[in-house]
Amino acid sequence: DGKYTVTMIPGDGIGPEVSNAVKEIYHAANVPIKWEEVSVAPFIKDGKQTIPEESIVSIKKNTVALKGPLATPIGKGHVSLNLTLRRTFHLFANVRPCKSIEGFKTAYDNVDTVLIRENTEGEYSGIEHEIVDGVVQSIKLITYEASERVARYAFHHAEQNGRNKVTAVHKAPIMRMSDGMFLHACRQVAKEYPHIAYDEDLLDRACLRIVQDPAPYADRVMVMPNLYGDILSDMCAGLIGGLGLTPSGNIGKDASIFEAVHGSAPDIAGQDKANPTALLLSSIMMLRHMSLFDKADQIENAIFKTIASGERTGDLGGKLGTRAFTDKIISRL
Ligand code: NAD
Ligand code: IPM
Ligand code: MN
Repeated sequence: DGKYTVTMIPGDGIGPEVSNAVKEIYHAANVPIKWEEVSVAPFIKDGKQTIPEESIVSIKKNTVALKGPLATPIGKGHVSLNLTLRRTFHLFANVRPCKSIEGFKTAYDNVDTVLIRENTEGEYSGIEHEIVDGVVQSIKLITYEASERVARYAFHHAEQNGRNKVTAVHKAPIMRMSDGMFLHACRQVAKEYPHIAYDEDLLDRACLRIVQDPAPYADRVMVMPNLYGDILSDMCAGLIGGLGLTPSGNIGKDASIFEAVHGSAPDIAGQDKANPTALLLSSIMMLRHMSLFDKADQIENAIFKTIASGERTGDLGGKLGTRAFTDKIISRL
């Protein structure tokens, strides 16, 4: 029927509300996508956490998924579902752009950062030990292979998006071996891209510089180990108005999963308060990934016009609920 099938994971907390906004807007805009909705609700099998096989089959088959936030289960035997998905599909690069929204004034009006985090290892390797009572280890595992792969993706992304520099963000003076090797991989890959400048920034220094003046970051792509990217992406979101606005794409060779930077927001779940913009912008990254550029532009323009007009959800100081905001976007398509 000329439609693309995309896996949809509605998610927990505000997930169903914000994914419903995406579905309604896509329907109104006649986007040629058929959603295949699956659940990744975990269960314990033979003492180990598993997710439903049908969700894995669906993502494998469709190769593209849009995912709402998933709450991290608490308790023995449980691991983060987000990490399970990122690992299962080898989603090696997490692309997190953060751009000021015209017409929505914060202390900054010129934020335009692109951050790419290594997405499969580092502090997220899940290797932890209690050595003796009162002494524990959480292992930060870094491989040259994964560092090189994400570095190459960062240079590729810079090239494709007209950004002329890649900055590796690190703490190599302290994490000598792990970040040292990460930097070594970045330097090697930089040689393959002589037309893209390359430099390095300490993580703490980068935080300071970005909040003092984000402008110099608008022409480049930052690349960094996993945990640093997690932290820095929430910080950047704070500069433009918060987590209600920032999208991301988890990119792999055989599949990609697009999701907001935010979580399930249990404090506002089920109250028609969530801002669907972050998931909507994630879906727009997804449309461009699928080369559906016209639809991406059309929906993106409608979102930005709506926000600029002052019709906003509560997180942006507005009065609209999720549903009313969604209807305003639809009226501008
Ligand atoms: P959170 O991002 O869910 O919420 C942080 C704050 O931002 C809250 O005050 C929340 O109300 C607000 N917020 C977030 N998204 C919003 C939106 N779209 N509109 C308006 N306000 C919004 O972070 P948390 O409370 O630390 O995490 C809650 C759960 O989500 C945890 O289980 C966590 O592990 C999980 N989580 C999942 C993902 C993901 O699926 N990728 C990301 C982050 C956190
Ligand atoms: C994110 C989240 C996840 C992370 C959690 C839920 C595992 O904070 O996507 O930024 O730390 O990567
Ligand atoms: Mn995070």
